[in-house]
Amino acid sequence: MVSTSPHAAIGVFDSGVGGLSVLRAIRAQLPAENLLYVADSQHMPYGERDPEYITRRCIAVATYLQQQNCKALVIACNTASVVAITTLREMLNIPIVGIEPAIKPAASLTRSGVVGVLATSQTVNSPGVQKLAQLYGKNVELLLQPCPGLVQCVEGAELDTPHTRELLKTFINPLLDAGADTLVLGCTHYPFVRDVIQDLVGHAVTVVEPGAAVARQLGRRLDELKLQIESDEAAAGRETFFSTGEIGDVAAVISALWGRAVAVRYLEDV
Ligand code: DGL
Repeated sequence: MVSTSPHAAIGVFDSGVGGLSVLRAIRAQLPAENLLYVADSQHMPYGERDPEYITRRCIAVATYLQQQNCKALVIACNTASVVAITTLREMLNIPIVGIEPAIKPAASLTRSGVVGVLATSQTVNSPGVQKLAQLYGKNVELLLQPCPGLVQCVEGAELDTPHTRELLKTFINPLLDAGADTLVLGCTHYPFVRDVIQDLVGHAVTVVEPGAAVARQLGRRLDELKLQIESDEAAAGRETFFSTGEIGDVAAVISALWGRAVAVRYLEDV
């Protein structure tokens, strides 16, 4: 059943811990809301799976969140959004906000006319991103760069390590050599290595991530539907974390990325 109570939680999910970069933007924008986060850790990385697999997992996790009485869903994963959002909207009776690589804002920010998009292999190859490229990439050179292995660095909390830096260089250097002055973080895991990326590219290159825009869009949808918690009721909202994977490992990484020790519950049958 879909909740129409403003006090119900907002469900947020990703293949793993990357969606926490969106969750923190939502928390900053909507401090009173209760947030329920699912990391589908057992089945990540989505970006190296086929679309049928990703869609099956998205249906399972989103259905679980709907059954938890959530009032809205955020797909905090570019790969899941570009592959499965249409199916989820058809199947589920709940407002759904997704995330996609910020090609449109990047195209208006670039001065060199060359934009690099860092994303998973599946996102880069998706019809959704090809469509964004056609719509907003006409007047710029758009370089779509798959980044296999980078999600696993973030999942292992290997943020600023020699291995992660070397891997990042292999993805970023060809973009810089081609003249890119704007880089889009087209995967929600990548904001956790944003400082390393900025350090590698220097301050003349603009790095764009859409987490805050997604949080604003969510706020607008809740307002339209009169589902936002009134700010005068504003006790701080709670966050509840779930994972489909090994809890010990995931809880340590979620706590490190979230910035405080949090409990993570195991979701066995999702
Ligand atoms: N965080 C996801 C995204 O935004 C992808 C991670 C994965 O490949 O599992 O695309």
